[in-house]
Amino acid sequence: MTIDETVEGGRTPGLGAEPSAQAPRRRPRARDIERYSGLFAQRTALMRSSAMRDLMALTEREEVISLAGGLPDTSTFPSDSYAALMGTVASDSCARALQYGPTEGFQRIKACIAEVMSAEGMTIDTEELLVTTGGQQVIDLVCKTLLDPGDVVVAEAPTYPGAIPTFCSYQADVVQVAMDRDGMRVHELEVLLDDLERQGRRPKFVYTVPNFHNPAGVTMSLARRRELVRIAGERQLLVLEDNPYGLLRYEGDALPTLHSLDDEFVIYASTFSKILSPGVRLGWAAAPSPILQKMQIGKQGSDLCSSSISQYFVSAYFDAGPWENYIRSLREIYRRRRDVMLDALAEHFPREARWTHPQGGLFIWATMPDYIDTTDLLARALQEHVAFVPGRAAYLDGRGGNEMRLNFSGVNEDHIREGIRRIGEVVREQVAMYGTLTGALPAPAAAPAPAAREQPATGPGNVLPLRAQRRRAG
Ligand SMILES: Cc1ncc(COP(=O)(O)O)c(C=O)c1O
Repeated sequence: MTIDETVEGGRTPGLGAEPSAQAPRRRPRARDIERYSGLFAQRTALMRSSAMRDLMALTEREEVISLAGGLPDTSTFPSDSYAALMGTVASDSCARALQYGPTEGFQRIKACIAEVMSAEGMTIDTEELLVTTGGQQVIDLVCKTLLDPGDVVVAEAPTYPGAIPTFCSYQADVVQVAMDRDGMRVHELEVLLDDLERQGRRPKFVYTVPNFHNPAGVTMSLARRRELVRIAGERQLLVLEDNPYGLLRYEGDALPTLHSLDDEFVIYASTFSKILSPGVRLGWAAAPSPILQKMQIGKQGSDLCSSSISQYFVSAYFDAGPWENYIRSLREIYRRRRDVMLDALAEHFPREARWTHPQGGLFIWATMPDYIDTTDLLARALQEHVAFVPGRAAYLDGRGGNEMRLNFSGVNEDHIREGIRRIGEVVREQVAMYGTLTGALPAPAAAPAPAAREQPATGPGNVLPLRAQRRRAG
């Protein structure tokens, strides 16, 4: 079963049928597509829908506990602050906020971006910035600027699911490099680059999310960061560093960004989505100026400029007081939610499962026994009104069938506990069924271990073994 079938199939009682403003658009029938097929560009054959966006249509329904989205909790932003800021924009800058703006973005917001980057140890000249419509647009503009059909892009395995439709739209040949608890295995990247070189191929760029990876939840070590920029420099290879989560660290020391280690080959992307609001749809790129210039021309063709209203709103927010305060409050809330999820996983998932322990960000990546297919599991989980992102969404080659991404920022602690309990239940159901079919006995219960957070990591991705197994009654 594909993710699309899960979403479209209407298998979920009470979920598939009733029309609503949020209902997914009816998928066209093969007969309808046939009528237009001669008109489509060849690249549309390779375009892929974003699994997360497809899932959102279902998970917005009230009865579903969604651990699928990558949503920050915008309910934590005080509505009176929002009203006051919008009031300021209306009274001070109404006409300008309602007008087109420069493609590269207003100077004032670029100064705000420079402040944010400085908080992560980077010094940037505002001339080297392009304001974009979310970090997602940076990925799109980098592809638009650098890729011809068939060009190689290197990404992590797993990679950010939202980048996959973009890579596919530009007909990239994406090669994924494995990760472990220290992020991308840079040694394997070198082997891959050598292999490609022997075939006369050279990747256009390496795409990486070094901090609190979406979806893997791991962070690239300092040694690997240094290695990566060394390789980039030696091989004249561009790196797209996507860093939406760097400021959302809940433990440990901050590590230097790749951009602060090398600004010659690193294109840097970030966003206000996770530190303020995804609704403002504002992100940015910092890049060497020849690349930035091409991206800017690409942006003119895409959307002329990012929303002026949003830029004025964010500028007013920075003017209003220390912007770090809100991030501090988010860190506190998300750290607690992460811990609640880790504890719930330890309590409800079977011992055969493993999962990562993120030091920040919004996601935990869980690996089930290999006989469990998480796409099928999602259909079953949706019957229990709970959702996650199946692992295949993060690979281009069908891998990830027994993996899943779990988000802990978007719902409250009770929902996290209940959501994980429900997913744990359906996973254990599958484990028991497998045992019945194969005659394999479920693994014996583990001896109680210290709190999951304190356990030493084993295996890929800072994986935690289960504290104790709980069996379903009967
Ligand atoms: C790694 C990564 N890159 C880019 C984005 C896009 O963010 P936005 O376009 O909202 O800035 C996201 C959103 O979840 C993400 O996780």
